[in-house]
Amino acid sequence: MRACSRRYGDGSTDAERLWAVVGLIHDFDYERWPSLEDHPYKGNEILKQRGWPEEICRAIMSHAEYSGVTRDTPMEKCLFACDELAGFITAVALIKPGKSLAEVDAKSVRKRMKDKAFARKVNRDDIINGAKDLGADLDEHITFCIEALKPIAKELGLDGSRTP
Ligand SMILES: [Fe+2]
Repeated sequence: MRACSRRYGDGSTDAERLWAVVGLIHDFDYERWPSLEDHPYKGNEILKQRGWPEEICRAIMSHAEYSGVTRDTPMEKCLFACDELAGFITAVALIKPGKSLAEVDAKSVRKRMKDKAFARKVNRDDIINGAKDLGADLDEHITFCIEALKPIAKELGLDGSRTP
C-alpha cells in the first residue's frame, strides 16, 4: 500500500502513512471474526467507537465485495487490487526452491492463477477485477506488487533465508 500510494496517490508522506495504516489494519478483526456476517463489520464498529476517521473505516468496508460499499478512491481501489494478490504472490514464493520473492515474476504468478488447486481460497476474479478497476494492466500490476514486496522480503520471510 505504501508503494501504491506513491504511484496512485498524491505522493505525500501523509498519504503514504494513511494508505499503509489501511493496508495494515484492514483485516484486524478477521482472526476473531472470520465469517462473512462479521468481517469487516465488527472491526468497523470498533474503529468507529474509537473515533477512527471515516476515510479509513470506509476503505476497510469497501475491501469486502459483499459489504455493498463501493470502491471510489484510489486508496480503496488499491486495497482491493493488492489484498488477494499479495497473499497469492506469497504463496507462489513459498513453492519456489529458495522460497524467495526473487524467484517470482508475473509469468509464474499468472501460471499459478490458472492452476485451480493452487491456493484455492484466493479468488482469481478479485485479482483480475481489482487490477482492471484500478486501470492497470494485470501483468504490470502483478510485477508492481512483487517489486513492492521485495524491499520487505526479509520481514515477510521471503528473502530466501528460510530453512527448507
Ligand atoms: Fe478482509
